[in-house]
Amino acid sequence: MKGRNDLSSKSETEKYSLKYHIVPPKGLLNDPNGLIQYKGIYHVFFQWNQHDTVHKNKSWGHVTSKDLIHWDYHEAALMPDEWYDKDGVYSGSAVSFEDKLYLFYTGNVRGAEGKRESYQCLAVSEDGFTFEKKGPLFNHPRGYTGHVRDPKVWQDGVGTWWMVLGAQKEDLSGDTILYQSTNLLDWEFKGSFVEEKLSLGYMWECPDVLRFTEKDVFIFSPQGLETKGKEFQNIYQTGYLTGKLTSNGTFAPDKKAFKELDRGFEFYAPQSFTDVSGRVISFGWAGVMYPEVEAAVPTRKDGWLHALSVPREVTYVDGALKQQPVIELEQLRQPNPTVINDAAQQTIELPSLQNELLIDWENTPKDFCLHIRKGVTMQYHHGNNRFVVSRTNWLTKEREEREVKIEKGLKNIRLLLESSLIELFINDGEEVFTLRYFIEEESRQLVISTGDEIENRTISLYELSV
Ligand code: FRU
Repeated sequence: MKGRNDLSSKSETEKYSLKYHIVPPKGLLNDPNGLIQYKGIYHVFFQWNQHDTVHKNKSWGHVTSKDLIHWDYHEAALMPDEWYDKDGVYSGSAVSFEDKLYLFYTGNVRGAEGKRESYQCLAVSEDGFTFEKKGPLFNHPRGYTGHVRDPKVWQDGVGTWWMVLGAQKEDLSGDTILYQSTNLLDWEFKGSFVEEKLSLGYMWECPDVLRFTEKDVFIFSPQGLETKGKEFQNIYQTGYLTGKLTSNGTFAPDKKAFKELDRGFEFYAPQSFTDVSGRVISFGWAGVMYPEVEAAVPTRKDGWLHALSVPREVTYVDGALKQQPVIELEQLRQPNPTVINDAAQQTIELPSLQNELLIDWENTPKDFCLHIRKGVTMQYHHGNNRFVVSRTNWLTKEREEREVKIEKGLKNIRLLLESSLIELFINDGEEVFTLRYFIEEESRQLVISTGDEIENRTISLYELSV
């Protein structure tokens, strides 16, 4: 089928088109779904409204790749065409078992008087491209509202299958529930995934469990968190708890706070999978916005909205997660990067709108500031170790910022730049900022001021091309 949104030069928003991120061919994209490497091919499904740029009629869009950088677009894999998913084939995950591909998803149904019903469903494929729906797997759990969704399934070391689901209790608090199976078809309800009560909002979406040798990590996207200082500033956010999976499948969290996975404005609902090389790779949605801000995104004029993040390799290092673009993305780098070692040469005209900027400091810089295309500013304050990213909101036209403390001081940054999307990785991915930006003026200016000695740092700028 027709691939990414190839916009004609007459398009109003061609200047915002994205070249190396997964975007919908048309319509609206949200969460990444069903991530898996199956029979040697990477499959990425995504929440997709094919017809319009609003949150309705969700199907599963489908792209595949052999290398995580070149993506082939396919027909939608799952359409909302059964009684149990008629109002949306909602988010879910994939596993492969006995050579078959199993997709688990939530069927969303608006029942009588618009009351929400949710069904946890299965679809099976033998080739990864055509799917047979098997319908709902079990009855709705007692004690939970209609908000139960986003099954994430994995198999443990002794062959038991586990499923977690984002949920809302009848007392309107957020939760994640656990199911167990031996054959992927019969599922037994095991109760709350985290036994101890955590007061984190009214609904938890898109739970995910990442297993590392020393630790397990529970990632989820709670709705309804109160802003706390500089944290939790977005409409909804994604974060994680470190801990251990117990022998009965539940998660025992460490006594550590829920930590935001991304410090930018939009990153949400990520999902991970492990590929054959053993890497934990994750994609997120870029991303969630206040409805009025989403309605004002200029690309809606050309009939498409949102993107996925680049694939990120996730590791657990010194008590926290690190996220870095997968190594394959280095293949997008064009030869002969601009190397900036002249103190005077700090205003650069970007060669194109797809770039990667790398800065490495030998010692933490005194202060650092980057102005990108006269629209986005990134600043590091040595005095208090604060890193601040600001942009102009395309609806209100006001400046808005997000910030984080870089505990051990700034050492390096890696910036993936596209015409309307930026992913910033600080200190090898210890902190990440993802953000959309839409500037009206066609500026290609990059102004870097590092306020330190040039021998203390290296700056390289690559043009990226798929
Ligand atoms: C998260 C989410 C999921 C749901 C899907 C619907 O962004 O709300 O909980 O399954 O999107 O598109």
